[in-house]
Amino acid sequence: MLTVEQLSKTYKGGIVALNDISFTLEAHSFTAILGPSGAGKSTLLRCIPQIMRPSRGRVLFEGADLTTCSQKRLREYRSQIAMVAQQFNLVRRRTALENCLAGRLQELPLWRCLLGKFPVSLLHEGMSALARVQLLEVAFQRSDRLSGGQQQRVALARALTQQANLILADEPIASLDPESAHTVLELLRSLCVQEGLTVLCNLHQVELAKQYSDRILGIRAGKLVLDVPTAQFSELDAERIYKA
Ligand SMILES: Nc1ncnc2c1ncn2[C@@H]1O[C@H](COP(=O)(O)OP(=O)(O)OP(=O)(O)O)[C@@H](O)[C@H]1O
Ligand SMILES: [Mg+2]
Repeated sequence: MLTVEQLSKTYKGGIVALNDISFTLEAHSFTAILGPSGAGKSTLLRCIPQIMRPSRGRVLFEGADLTTCSQKRLREYRSQIAMVAQQFNLVRRRTALENCLAGRLQELPLWRCLLGKFPVSLLHEGMSALARVQLLEVAFQRSDRLSGGQQQRVALARALTQQANLILADEPIASLDPESAHTVLELLRSLCVQEGLTVLCNLHQVELAKQYSDRILGIRAGKLVLDVPTAQFSELDAERIYKA
């Protein structure tokens, strides 16, 4: 469902963050990206939906090249891609439910957004998404009153309300305690297995990548140094990614 072809990104000042990266994501799979700090993992995730424009290469999503398609088409494709970050990126003073609806506001006339008058069908979708991440009971709580783990699950519910089919998660568990981290990764995995989403997830923990992913990509100094099914991932592979 996603093919990245010979992707490179050089920042102003000449830092080569990505160097000729190519891989394909199977639909409904959970792919983990491992790599040392500064390897280019976040840059790669940003270059996929063109939040950041790559210097070279192509990103084929559902068959269309996001690097060359029109702005209008890009907006349509982007609505199918959700970004989930370490800092959750919720609107703090808004409720969990309102945060879920944020992914669909562009569909609504301005007056509805300003008055908070959401169509009942959309409210249903938001509530259904919260139910799927087991957060129905906090739907009407302000998001800054929720725990970190709950906030990250609201971010996933927002991705579901957005009707995304690809989730790009950049260290989604970095600021969570171990138990919440497992809950969030289990949830991401179940979104792949049970709801047919596709997940590409930057992680710093090899053990968690081995436990939850179907496939592991290794990035080091901007280069793809590993692309294996998780079942085949070995100690040697970990060394190839991390060892100096
Ligand atoms: N906006 C920017 N301008 C210039 N250089 C940048 C910018 N963002 C990142 N870089 C550089 O690009 C390289 C890759 O950074 P990136 O943030 O993608 O790494 P990462 O693998 O996500 O690291 P971490 O694990 O610490 O999050 C690093 O050398 C970084 O310093
Ligand atoms: Mg990063």
